[in-house]
Amino acid sequence: MKILVTGANGQLARSLADADLPENWQIHALARPQIDLVIPETISKSFDQVEPHLVINTAAYTDVNKAETEEELAHKINAVGAGNLAQVCERHNVPLIHISTDYVFDGGKKNPYKEDDPVAPTSAYGRTKLAGEQRVADACDQHFILRTAWIYSPFGKNFVKTMLGLAATRDDINVVDDQFGNPTYALDLANCIVAMGKQIFQNRREDIPWGIYHAAGTGDANWYDVACEIFIQSKQLGGPTAQIHPISSREYPGPAQRPANSRLDCNKFDKYFGLRLPAWQASIAKCVGQICNDNTRTTDKL
Ligand SMILES: NC(=O)c1ccc[n+]([C@@H]2O[C@H](COP(=O)([O-])OP(=O)(O)OC[C@H]3O[C@@H](n4cnc5c(N)ncnc54)[C@H](OP(=O)(O)O)[C@@H]3O)[C@@H](O)[C@H]2O)c1
Repeated sequence: MKILVTGANGQLARSLADADLPENWQIHALARPQIDLVIPETISKSFDQVEPHLVINTAAYTDVNKAETEEELAHKINAVGAGNLAQVCERHNVPLIHISTDYVFDGGKKNPYKEDDPVAPTSAYGRTKLAGEQRVADACDQHFILRTAWIYSPFGKNFVKTMLGLAATRDDINVVDDQFGNPTYALDLANCIVAMGKQIFQNRREDIPWGIYHAAGTGDANWYDVACEIFIQSKQLGGPTAQIHPISSREYPGPAQRPANSRLDCNKFDKYFGLRLPAWQASIAKCVGQICNDNTRTTDKL
């Protein structure tokens, strides 16, 4: 069983490489320039080389703030590029798991968002990811669009690494406490994606409908809560700590407008796949532990 993963250097793709794979399953993670979503020939060539049974699209333009001034480029990758990949999947009759985002919602709902709630992105990034969902659904019948949120991992750029990095150089950090979401450990999501693959290919669950699913860490939080948990764990491990101060989004304005509530209701994912991601606090502990451990073993800077 061969799985082609796009965006090999990203947080989720690197976590997929570390996920618990069944015997005889292989991940073929490819990065640019070998597979570039905006160059269709590279997609076809990669299919010819790998001959995948399943494709996981983790590749995306993910810089939410920068997308406000680079929406055209973000659209090219997140919408046109995702559509290009979906077309090749359809041509080869290969199922596609496409990763999308909680930022397709405007944040106005009081409760967690369900898959069929109205979408209304407030940011350029969210608009381009929504357009990607639509192109994937139009181009490829056998698709799962997995909306996730607030990804962190020991790899790349993310909130956990930013907090630990800041704490290494300052004593006080202001963190917003009025945006609520589901912190998601990339390795937890990667293991769930592999488990989805098992349901489809090993258990041959043809009753599971294609379409959109929400899959994110269990339990919700605001960024201040997450920062507090990071430093509780880091302190226990002898890592960097700082004093955290809650502030409002108005006190920390950025180029992109982010939803105040982007919590995802993941019951549909549980209903059809029997899968739920672990509680976010437990996974923050694992991730902080991994980062602190990596730091003592290598000269890698936070
Ligand atoms: N991070 C989050 O908090 C979050 C939240 C919700 C949803 N998501 C979604 O989850 C998925 C995975 O996120 P992540 O955090 O793992 O992303 P990431 O770490 O930013 O990695 C994205 C990867 O996509 C690659 N890429 C960019 N443009 C490409 C192109 N034209 N062709 C091929 N590859 C390209 C980048 O490659 P280079 O190394 O060459 O730049 C990068 O390695 C994305 O779809 C993202 O939209 C993320």
